[in-house]
Amino acid sequence: MAESEVTRTDELPAADRETVKAWLDRVPVESEDSRARHAAFEHKVRQLLQQRNAILVAHYYTDPDLQKLAEETGGLVADSLEMARFGTQCSADTLVVAGVRFMGETAKILNPEKTVLMPTLEATCSLDIGCPAEEFSKFCRAHPDHEVVVYANTSVGVKAISDWVVTSAIAVDVVEHLLDQGKKVIWAPDKHLGRYIQQKLGTQDMLLWDGACIVHEEFKTRALLQMKHLHPDAAVLAHPESPLSVLELADVVGSTTQIINAARNRAEQKFIVATDQGIFYKLQQNAPDKEFIMAPTSGEGATCRSCANCPWMGMNNMENLYYSLLKGTNEILVDPELGRRALVPLQKMLQFRDKSST
Ligand code: 13P
Ligand code: SF4
Repeated sequence: MAESEVTRTDELPAADRETVKAWLDRVPVESEDSRARHAAFEHKVRQLLQQRNAILVAHYYTDPDLQKLAEETGGLVADSLEMARFGTQCSADTLVVAGVRFMGETAKILNPEKTVLMPTLEATCSLDIGCPAEEFSKFCRAHPDHEVVVYANTSVGVKAISDWVVTSAIAVDVVEHLLDQGKKVIWAPDKHLGRYIQQKLGTQDMLLWDGACIVHEEFKTRALLQMKHLHPDAAVLAHPESPLSVLELADVVGSTTQIINAARNRAEQKFIVATDQGIFYKLQQNAPDKEFIMAPTSGEGATCRSCANCPWMGMNNMENLYYSLLKGTNEILVDPELGRRALVPLQKMLQFRDKSST
C-alpha cells in the first residue's frame, strides 16, 4: 500500500504531497518503535523466566516470535500431546503456556503443585465452547453402555466425566484399542475428527458430538482439488479437524507434530498444508529447502471466519506474556475435585502415548 501511495503523491498538489509524505514517513518510524518495544518486552521476558524458574511451553499455532523464544530459552514448541507431557517432566516451578485455555488447564491438572500462567485467559477454542459439561453429561447418561472418549480441546468439567482424553496424535489408536475390546464409543466434540476415525477404522460403533473447529472447518474441497491440479508434484498434509472431503484428498492426515515430521521426511519438495498458518514457522525451520502452500479457505460457499488463523491462538503476544510473568496474573486455577477426576483420563492418555512410542 505504501508504494502505490508514494507513486500517487506525485499527482497531488505540493501541500498535500507533503502531508501524505509526512504520514508515509511516519510508518517506518512507528514500526521501528514497535519493534523496539517488542524487543524490550522479549528481553524482560527472558530475565523473568530465569528469575522465576519458569519455562515457556508454546503451541505451533502461536506467534513465531513466541515459538522462537520458547526454543531459545529451553522451553518447548509442540503439539497439544507433547505440551501436556513436557510439563510433567520439567523441573520448573512455573509453566507459562502460550496456546489456548484447555492447554493451560491440562498443564495445571497434571501438575497441581506448579504455578501455571497464560499470556491471556481469553484464548478459548470453538470445540471447547461447543461442548458444555452439563449438556454433555446428559448425553453420556443417555448412553451408559458407551466408553466416553473426549478430545483434549475440552473443559475440565468435560474431562472429569470422561473415560479417556486423547489428542489428534493418538485419537485413532485409542479408539481402535477400545473397539478391539468390544467397546462402543462416545466421541466428542469434533465431528470431523470423529468421522475420520470412523472411516479409518471402518466402524459405526461411535456416537459423535456435533462440534467443530472454526479454523479447520474452513478448508474447501473443490478449491483444494484445483490447487492440486496446479501443483501436481505437491503432497497434501492435513490436520484431522478438517472436513472429511478435504482429508480424503490428503496424503498425510495427522497432528501438528505429525504434519511437521511428514514435511521433513517425505521425498516431495512441495506441500499444500491444511492447518493453522502458525505452523509455517516450524515447517520452514524443519525443511528449509521445501516449499509450503496454504490450503485454500476461499472458494464456493466460503465464509472464511478464520482464514486458517486461529483467533484465540493469536491472542498470545510478547506484551501479555511479559505482564503475566511480571505480575503473576492469568494464573490457571482448577477446581480441585474436578481436577482430580479429570486427571484420571489425562494420565491414561499419557500412559497410552508412552506405551505406543516404546
Ligand atoms: P494438535 O494436538 O495437533 O497440536 O492440535 C491442537 C489443536 O488445537 C488443533 O487445532
Ligand atoms: Fe480450537 Fe481450532 Fe483454535 Fe485449535 S485451531 S485451538 S481446535 S479453534
